Amino acid sequence: MSAPTPPTAELHLHVEGTIEAELLVRLADRDGLPLPSRDPAVLRERYEHFADLQAFLDVYYANLAVLRTEEDFHELATGYLDRARAAGVRRAEVFFDPQTHVGRGVPLEAVIRGLSSAFAAAEETHGVSAALILCFLRDLGPEAAEEILRAALPLREHFIGVGLDSAEVGYPPSLFTRVYAMAASEGLHRVAHAGEEGGPDYVREALDLLHVARVDHGIRAMEDPELVARLRAERIPLTVCPLSNVYLRAVDALPDHPLPRMLDQGLVATVNSDDPAYFGGYVDENYRAVARDLGLDRARLAQLARNSVDAAFAPAEDKRRWHGEIAEWTARAG
Ligand code: HPA
Ligand code: ZN
Repeated sequence: MSAPTPPTAELHLHVEGTIEAELLVRLADRDGLPLPSRDPAVLRERYEHFADLQAFLDVYYANLAVLRTEEDFHELATGYLDRARAAGVRRAEVFFDPQTHVGRGVPLEAVIRGLSSAFAAAEETHGVSAALILCFLRDLGPEAAEEILRAALPLREHFIGVGLDSAEVGYPPSLFTRVYAMAASEGLHRVAHAGEEGGPDYVREALDLLHVARVDHGIRAMEDPELVARLRAERIPLTVCPLSNVYLRAVDALPDHPLPRMLDQGLVATVNSDDPAYFGGYVDENYRAVARDLGLDRARLAQLARNSVDAAFAPAEDKRRWHGEIAEWTARAG
């Protein structure tokens, strides 16, 4: 009997969104920091009904107060890798938000070295290939983004790309054209959140002005047939996060999710967990949920997994190996 979900690449995962309630309590206890409750179950209950993206971000940023040292960041990353391995993740391209930590007085070096030391050894320790993508907080604006990129460049070997996250509406991709050009000139991969709460225009700007290789979320592109045709023709991957979309009310309920239509229309859609400690599950749980609530069979799950490997910024020989593992998974009877 093979695993119920395929081997996969996880391409949309915020490491700060993997802080499980138990770790939150342990770190808060150690440092004598306040929390709304010391009971992990009570903390988790607060996550169940976010009104929108901003309501989630308020809780998410508040919880990050417990991350203070290089060791904390190392422990956070290791906790994710433990769970990712069990979820069938072969490759993880992991977002982190340095501005929020530096803004609280944590040295940038502690953040990057703590995460990077866990991920650098991940292939040997966990059988997971892992790399970091530095995200700009769009609500802090373009100058702050340029400042953090400049500050991080001495640590350039520890990350492979840049992304754009946090509050979307009101902070269009066009604001970040210059910092993305800087990143391009450093040879960094470029991705951006667009089309989660923002409309199709945000997706178009991310493609035309930021020259992103992938779009994070992108579900609202489905409102614009011309944009869908372009995403298909250019084979732009979309890193879709089904459970996140339900928790943040980007869709009403999972059975309404556009993922099957995205596949039907030939888009390179992938399945990811976004902030699994908050949104009810890791990537395997997202695969299981779309199989159950959207009726996706093994062939469609395998297509999503192949898309994730195609969309990864990983060496061709690794991708060939992972494609082989997906083919084996597909061949085995469930
Ligand atoms: N959207 C935007 N920013 C984020 C998210 C998200 O889902 N998760 C963490 N930062
Ligand atoms: Zn995200």
